[in-house]
This record gives sequence, C-alpha cells and structure tokens, in this order.
Amino acid sequence: MLEIWKGNQILQLKDNDIEQWFDVLNYGLVEDRGFNSNDANIEEIKSDIKKDYIEYLMSCSMNENFQAYYILRDGHNTIVAVCRIVFDKGEYYLEGLETHRDYYRKGYATELLFEVLHELKRNKILKIYSIVRYHNIKSLNFHKKHGFVMVMEDKTNTKFLLNVEDKIRKNLFDLWAKDYNKSVLKSEKECSYPFAGYSEVKYSIIDIISSKQKAKVLEMGVGTGEITKPLYDLGYEITGVDLSNKMIEIAKIHMDKAKFILSDFGNVLNEITIKFDFIVFSYSIHHLSYNGQIELLIKLNDYLKEDGVIIIGDVSTFTIEDMNQLQNKYAAIWDDEEYYPILKKYQLSQLANLYKLSYVQINEVAGIYQLRKGDIK
Ligand SMILES: C[S@@+](CC[C@H](N)C(=O)[O-])C[C@H]1O[C@@H](n2cnc3c(N)ncnc32)[C@H](O)[C@@H]1O
Repeated sequence: MLEIWKGNQILQLKDNDIEQWFDVLNYGLVEDRGFNSNDANIEEIKSDIKKDYIEYLMSCSMNENFQAYYILRDGHNTIVAVCRIVFDKGEYYLEGLETHRDYYRKGYATELLFEVLHELKRNKILKIYSIVRYHNIKSLNFHKKHGFVMVMEDKTNTKFLLNVEDKIRKNLFDLWAKDYNKSVLKSEKECSYPFAGYSEVKYSIIDIISSKQKAKVLEMGVGTGEITKPLYDLGYEITGVDLSNKMIEIAKIHMDKAKFILSDFGNVLNEITIKFDFIVFSYSIHHLSYNGQIELLIKLNDYLKEDGVIIIGDVSTFTIEDMNQLQNKYAAIWDDEEYYPILKKYQLSQLANLYKLSYVQINEVAGIYQLRKGDIK
C-alpha cells in the first residue's frame, strides 16, 4: 500500500512512522559508514545519525523543491521501501529509493517505483531524472533493468531519464503479452471496439505489402508479430520495434530471423540505419498524441525508400465528430488515453505536404491509411 508524505503532514507523523522510515534508510548502515559497532561511543554516534535524519525529514516539510516522500507498506503495515521526488531547476528527480534490508529481493523497490509512476502521471509529471553514484552497482542495474535511459555520465555520477507514460505502458503490454492474441480474437468476434475488423485490417496490410515481391518492412509496435508473421513466412525482411520485451519474446518465436529492436517510438530512430519499402503501424500509433503521431510520421519520411509507403491500420474515423460518436457508443469500455487516427486531422496537417494520403474505412470502428512518399508532386 502506498502512502504519500508531504508538506505539513510530515510534521504530524507518528513516532512509529518516523522510526520505521529511519529503519529503512539506516538499518545496518552504521558499519557501512566506517563506524565500528564495538566503538565505545557507538550509541552516541547512532543517536547523532538518527537526529540528522529526522531533522532532514522535518526540513522537507518546508522545502519548496521537495515534492513528497513515497512510502510502501506491506500487508502487516510495516514500511518496506521509501523514495522521494524532488524538483530542481525545472526537472523532477527520483531520490533515495531504498528497500529495508530485511525485505530485499521481494520486488518492493519495483512495486514502489510503479506506484510512484502512476502517482506522477496523475499529477501530469511525465519525465523523471535520477542520479546514481558510479560505485552503486545495485542501483545502476536497477535503473537499467527498468528502462531508465542514460543522459549524462561523468567520473562520479550517471544521470538517467525515465519517460513515465512509456514505462507504465511497457508494463501494461508486458502483462498483456501472453493473452494479447486471445483478447484481440474475442473483441473481433464480438464485433466490438477496439478490434472489430482486426483480420480485415491485417489482410489489407498484407495485400498492400505483397503487391511488391520483395520488400523491407518495419513494423512499429510489432506486438506478438501477428501482422508481420505471414509476410516473414513469405520471405519479406522484417524489422519489429516494440517497447515490451514480453511482446518481442513472443514475436521472436514465430520470426526467429527477423530483427527486433526493444525501444519506444521516440528513441528508436537513432538505431535504424536502413530505409524501408513499408513502415507499418497496426493498432500502435494511437499510443502517441496527435502531435506526436504527426511529428513521427514526418520524421519517418527519411526512413522510407523513394517509393516507400507508411501503412496505418487502427481504430479510426473520417472526422472528429465521427470519433466522438464512436466514443459515446463505446463509453463503458473506451480508452481515454489512446488517440485514434482521424483522417481529417492528418489531411489538415503537414503530412499532406510530404505524402499522398489515401484512406479506406473498413467498418464503423477500423480504417486503413496509406501515406505514399513517391507520389507527392
Ligand atoms: C495493440 S498492440 C498491437 C500489436 C500488433 N501491431 C498487432 O496489430 O497485433 C500495440 C503494441 O505497440 C507497442 N507500443 C505501444 N506504444 C509504444 C511506443 N511508444 N513505442 C514502442 N512500442 C509501443 C506495445 O508494446 C504493443 O506491443
């Protein structure tokens, strides 16, 4: 269970809470700091350390840059992990993420990180930084494992950045990977949002691509490989990008010689060195905002061959009004965090200067876009 301590709440904490908080941060650390527990003054030393800690905690209540302490309790109400978020020169920093030494290797640090990320997202904080000392191997590994990207390194510190929404999304897709195909089938069978018409979208994409006998295909958000596997079997050269390693693990089973890049759409372009005949987004571009979609589709122009095509298959409508109607119809299950392509938005954007845009509405829910590079005059 997550608890948040901030502002005046900190001044009103119970002694027992403060004791437990201190215990997480300090337990066993006297020796680590070079003091000897047999030292005649050890009790005095310990008491001074504790005093410093508590003074620091109390000072947080008045520090404008301090956002909050995040406290994770286990089922017995014991504090098992803590961390804080601090604001500094326009950036939010994750600091002091610690698990109580008696509770290591139970996944509490990861659990706390996720709870904090959800809380940050609710507060519209979308990026966090973290600075790790070069000798703290455990923390360096934790950051790498959780997809923090290194943005700066010097002799003493590594500075990491984490995109909050991408990390939350990655976790959701990792959890969904095993049952993804089943849930697509179910939604399609029920002819319901979001996957009504999925097979038609899939085979339309395959038809467009297989009009060329040989082609290099990049699938952005490859998932379990459902769309590109038939093309792979036909000998097309497939590169799949996805932020979920669990999705990629499944796609790899079906396409063992394909290339996979574990990355989010924002960072992947640095890793791509070739040009493609087709770039496919099947039910994936909607994870970006409308501006994000248009920015990415513009950048992808440089990754297309001269006659290359971007294909987008997704929940989609002609106009914003149509999308609003669809949303009302499926209000009970509508996902407010997804931005489904709308033809009118694409037509009115800079995409019209770069691509010849065509669109087919497959049914009430789904549609297919083609953005052709070579046809533009
Ligand atoms: C709904 S699934 C679609 C999978 C597949 N294309 C299909 O049609 O079955 C969306 C996929 O996009 C991936 N994804 C979502 N947002 C992403 C992002 N920002 N960067 C990279 N992959 C992303 C997810 O991990 C997931 O595998």
